[in-house]
Amino acid sequence: MRNLHIPAIRVHAYGASDQLFLEEVPVPVPAKDEVLLKIVASGVNPIDWKIREGMMQHPLPFTPGVEASGVVTAVGDGVFGMKIGDEVYGAVDGSYAAYAVAPAVQLYHKPLHLSFEEAAAMGGGKTAWGALFDVAKLTKGQRILIHAGAGGVGLFAVQLAFNAGAYVIATASAENMDFVTSLGANEVIDYKAAPFETQMSPVDIVFDTVGGETTNRSIAVVKPGGLLLCIVNMPTPEKVEAAGIRALWGGTKTVTAMKEIDKLLHKELIKPYVRKVFKSLSHAAAAQDYSQNGGPGRGKIVLRISEE
Ligand SMILES: NC(=O)c1ccc[n+]([C@@H]2O[C@H](COP(=O)([O-])OP(=O)(O)OC[C@H]3O[C@@H](n4cnc5c(N)ncnc54)[C@H](OP(=O)(O)O)[C@@H]3O)[C@@H](O)[C@H]2O)c1
Repeated sequence: MRNLHIPAIRVHAYGASDQLFLEEVPVPVPAKDEVLLKIVASGVNPIDWKIREGMMQHPLPFTPGVEASGVVTAVGDGVFGMKIGDEVYGAVDGSYAAYAVAPAVQLYHKPLHLSFEEAAAMGGGKTAWGALFDVAKLTKGQRILIHAGAGGVGLFAVQLAFNAGAYVIATASAENMDFVTSLGANEVIDYKAAPFETQMSPVDIVFDTVGGETTNRSIAVVKPGGLLLCIVNMPTPEKVEAAGIRALWGGTKTVTAMKEIDKLLHKELIKPYVRKVFKSLSHAAAAQDYSQNGGPGRGKIVLRISEE
């Protein structure tokens, strides 16, 4: 495969989705501890268009994408427990491509009961687990508000908090309230009908997966001594101090978080949800535009890249 070229999306300059170009690049070669994957499906995450727009710095040019599912086609030195032909999923940098390399430690065997599209939609689970348990130390009986319970991170946060025995309140659009209830929420607030602050009593933890003005507004519904857990932006420090609460960044990435998510997935105690599948690499721009502007939705956007 060394001299072969493969299709991949490339970004040469920050900007709108017209900066995504379908090009040919050399097939990557797995280094020590890495595997080469034939990518079947790539998750499409808000971070993909945030990086493309230059909101987060990334060396140019690059291939977008942070997670995928696929089939192992080559194995580097030092890799144990993974062989050619294995169906896997996990964190894969540059996943908008026909093939990509990734450290084997970031990959997990795809459960048989999941499709490749579903397996490419698990990254939000890792984020939710890391925030709720590594950072917030959520325990049974605590009251938690989860913003955007139907979103790619929120839908896992609701399932995980429910499994942990928390009392779960979540925000969602009216059309997603049944869905979020089915994930385990005790109360679902239609955040468009009235300000969420007026529809609930205070909680021990707010998990804010929305950001913007929602972050500072959330301070009002955290009990004194409680926690505002953020993954988009942090609140104003003076307001946090005046309210007598804590605010923490929940975006830490640990190998433990994904290991725990993988265990729960195999036991069928959590489930991914796919909102829309875009059918090939040539639809990458449409997929990112949909993630950025797609309106109400439940679950994750996925880019299908090849047949299994
Ligand atoms: N720091 C980190 O490590 C990290 C990791 C992953 C993600 N993130 C960030 O977390 C954010 C969420 O990611 P995601 O993948 O969950 O995004 P997503 O799937 O695109 O989230 C879309 C959801 O947001 C909901 N929503 C929009 N405005 C809302 C509001 N004002 N109140 C309540 N819900 C609202 C919508 O719900 P309805 O359809 O029900 O209206 C929709 O379901 C992104 O900004 C992402 O970049 C950070």
